[in-house]
Amino acid sequence: MFDALAVRYDLLNDILSMGQVRLWRRAVARIAGARAGERVLDLAAGTGTSTLAFAASGANCVACDFSLGMLQVGKAQVSKAGATAGRVSFVGGDALRLPFRDRAFDAVTISFGLRNVAGARDALAEMLRVTRPGGRLVVCEFSTIAVAPLDMLYRRYLTSVLPAVARRAARNPEAYEYLSESIADWPGQRELAGLIRAAGWSAVRWRDLSLGVVAVHVARRPEDRA
Ligand SMILES: C[S@@+](CC[C@H](N)C(=O)[O-])C[C@H]1O[C@@H](n2cnc3c(N)ncnc32)[C@H](O)[C@@H]1O
Repeated sequence: MFDALAVRYDLLNDILSMGQVRLWRRAVARIAGARAGERVLDLAAGTGTSTLAFAASGANCVACDFSLGMLQVGKAQVSKAGATAGRVSFVGGDALRLPFRDRAFDAVTISFGLRNVAGARDALAEMLRVTRPGGRLVVCEFSTIAVAPLDMLYRRYLTSVLPAVARRAARNPEAYEYLSESIADWPGQRELAGLIRAAGWSAVRWRDLSLGVVAVHVARRPEDRA
């Protein structure tokens, strides 16, 4: 599915989020706080737009995804990003069986990806494996608005406005029907925090963006016991 929508993926994100996605990406990068020289894995990186936000701080980033179509578009796009592009490398790989050694990264991030992985809990455990003790997890995902009337309006946007806009702007609008359905089925903030904890992460907390349209969960890999 993602191979087929790769070319217009970022354009559709801008249209359907009314530009909010750019603000979310900046906020996620601030929360992740990646420092120069750190090794960051951006999993389910797609076209690498999420990865660029982390690389901008000077971190060395690996953009990993199993859609080679998304990675190809990403490689072409990211190469135009000047010096930052030099800090991003692209790797094909499955979130459920990552092609990296244990403890390889200071931080592992996944933006709008965990919802799409078949087996979120197993992916969270794989992310733990490749993070060094004391290293960080950052999950950015669509979530739940706490104010019920606003949530109702948002759900209406997801089920009627979003698919209608996608029918006009996207080459494969059925993918965007999947988007609405997968957001509706995805757990809320507290439930996702529980899933992250159950996979072995500690110090789990989250911050809502745009009233909870998006939530950013952060956690740490526990230090090894002596
Ligand atoms: C909505 S895109 C997110 C892309 C990017 N992180 C962003 O913020 O725009 C979701 C991505 O998850 C990837 N994905 C889904 N399941 C995966 C898996 N098991 N392993 C690796 N990537 C996966 C898809 O190929 C797709 O590129």
